[in-house]
Amino acid sequence: MTTPDSETVRKAFGHFATGVTIVTAIDNDGKSVGMTASSFNSVSLDPPMVLWSAGAQAPEFEIFALCQKFAVHVLSASQMELSNRFATPGIDKFDGIDWQMSSLQLPVIAECPMCLQCDTVDRHDAGDHKILIGRVIGVDIRSDEPPLLYYGSAYHQLGGSL
Ligand SMILES: Cc1cc2nc3c(=O)[nH]c(=O)nc-3n(C[C@H](O)[C@H](O)[C@H](O)COP(=O)(O)O)c2cc1C
Repeated sequence: MTTPDSETVRKAFGHFATGVTIVTAIDNDGKSVGMTASSFNSVSLDPPMVLWSAGAQAPEFEIFALCQKFAVHVLSASQMELSNRFATPGIDKFDGIDWQMSSLQLPVIAECPMCLQCDTVDRHDAGDHKILIGRVIGVDIRSDEPPLLYYGSAYHQLGGSL
């Protein structure tokens, strides 16, 4: 074993298949921000808690790193375009998509199979990322559409159960 270079690490991490989410929040001026994140994970059932990590390279990093609340939207296999849109820096990501501000003051995107609204309860620096831990304060299960998957730097869909 040698000390891995970043390309090898990226490739190694890519062996772990994940779902794909869009995390949204508002900045200090109440403007909606959002980014695609595959680092989402459920953590605790009681109380309900989740985590995800925001990369320091992201243009919205400072906003997410300090946000008091965030919403996580799980994407369906038909939402690859939406995933790419929220991974594209420098565009108005919310322009032309169906979304609304929730009663908890979080931007909520329509037509995602599942959406969680969370209070940020903890933040941890972890290398070039910040891990954000949220307590779930709102759950919206909308459909059983199959999920969008991310594996080996590419999108996939479920091939069926084993
Ligand atoms: C499928 C997918 C998953 C991603 N997951 C994360 C993530 O968990 N955390 C993160 O900070 N960025 C993640 N990104 C990257 C951001 O969505 C976004 O592309 C990036 O922050 C934009 O800034 P940059 O292109 O200047 O790096 C992901 C991108 C894609 C396409």
